[in-house]
Amino acid sequence: MNEKKLLYIETFGCQMNDRDSEIMRQLLATAYETTDVISSADAIIVNTCSIRDKAEQKAYSLLGALRKKKKENPGLIIAATGCVAQQEGEKMLSRMPHVDLVVGPRNIYQLPELFRRAEQQQKGIVATDQAKSFMIPPFLPSLQQGQPHKRFVTIMQGCNNFCTYCIVPFTRGREISRKAEDILSEINHLAAGGVKEVTLLGQNVNSYGNDQPEGNRTSFASLLRRVSEIKGVERLRFTTSNPKDLSEELMQCFTDLKKLCPHFHLPVQSGSNAILKSMNRRYTIELYLEKVEKLRSYYPQLALTTDIIVGFPGESRADFQATMDLIEKVRYHAAFSFKYSSRPPAKSCQMAETVSREEKEERLAELQERLSSITLERNREYIGQRLELMVEGESKAADGQWSGRSGTNHIVNFQSPDVLAPGNLVQVIIREACLHSLRGELL
Ligand code: SAH
Ligand code: SF4
Ligand code: F3S
Repeated sequence: MNEKKLLYIETFGCQMNDRDSEIMRQLLATAYETTDVISSADAIIVNTCSIRDKAEQKAYSLLGALRKKKKENPGLIIAATGCVAQQEGEKMLSRMPHVDLVVGPRNIYQLPELFRRAEQQQKGIVATDQAKSFMIPPFLPSLQQGQPHKRFVTIMQGCNNFCTYCIVPFTRGREISRKAEDILSEINHLAAGGVKEVTLLGQNVNSYGNDQPEGNRTSFASLLRRVSEIKGVERLRFTTSNPKDLSEELMQCFTDLKKLCPHFHLPVQSGSNAILKSMNRRYTIELYLEKVEKLRSYYPQLALTTDIIVGFPGESRADFQATMDLIEKVRYHAAFSFKYSSRPPAKSCQMAETVSREEKEERLAELQERLSSITLERNREYIGQRLELMVEGESKAADGQWSGRSGTNHIVNFQSPDVLAPGNLVQVIIREACLHSLRGELL
């Protein structure tokens, strides 16, 4: 019998990395099947993230722990992929000589060949070149692996924005958009296989198509319109957008496209104009608020979420207060917030860190406390409302308990006497609201 070897993948970071891990699993599927048990693996991929120092430390600590495993089993293949791998390249090998492969996000399509070389005992292979001519190849996702009802579809890679704190333009390279035709065939293929929800992924989806030759460009909004015509796709989401590029053409989609979920992730980062300027975000708070208001005029029930950084170099107490004031004005449905982390070679590393660690922690705690209470207040607004849910699955906690996700991206738990398939759409009335979930009653 031709038994397959076992592959373990650990994924850190964003949805782009999640999708890349799926692609890697599929690329290696002829020789490897995946396992959840790291100790039984013949090959281990650590798909790394370097957005903050802590994320990088986590990746290194897992890779470090594999040193012993490699000693015990020299045939074990260890690959580091993702943003830390891209960033560190050869340097990673000198720190972690037991690593066989260091592979950047644009090189994952070479994995079958790279694995073959590693299996033939070639040591220390680094594949991190970011050729200017690189295109994400047409690639049809496996229907056997991955979630049956919802999938991520990468529409572009990289970023040209160079926010001064951010490492992404260095790890993922300059912006490249996939061809609209490739994206549409991928989604057609998923829909034909029963996938009901797709999330389009890019670091800044609003600039989709800007790198394509003039006269032959598809804007992000027109891509959305074309995707929404695909039969079988019932829900459409996307992430993320830089507010400076949020166009009215996109806002209009929320009025026109029934399938587009009423949730918008619009990272603000700071409520202070001085800090936004120093971050090179290229919008003011006034412009941001204007866009939020306009967006809500296109779809009043839209759920808005954001990202916020505290303790950026030069952030005064007054700057921080401006962020606290902003969240009162916008009243986000949910938010992710982070302590600033210096990420060489991002430009902000040259700015003196003026906020102590303790102060950053205090500001973060103060911000998160208020963000949480706003989220709870927002969640309570749904009590008595009818929401459509896409079923995620049965809750492990109790019999007959099910969990689904609303278009607004809320997790809603409910009782059902019937067995429901993931991807089914059901209607509920919301009866209770907690911080992280709602409770509904099936209609
Ligand atoms: N492309 C996305 C952001 C991806 S990174 C966008 O522009 O919206 C996700 C979040 O991580 C960012 O929105 C930011 O809030 C946070 N982040 C990025 N770099 C950071 C750093 N150096 N320190 C702390 N948080 C950071
Ligand atoms: Fe980073 Fe800014 Fe690009 Fe987002 S838009 S990935 S924060 S540089
Ligand atoms: Fe992390 Fe790279 Fe994503 S740095 S957040 S895995 S783009």
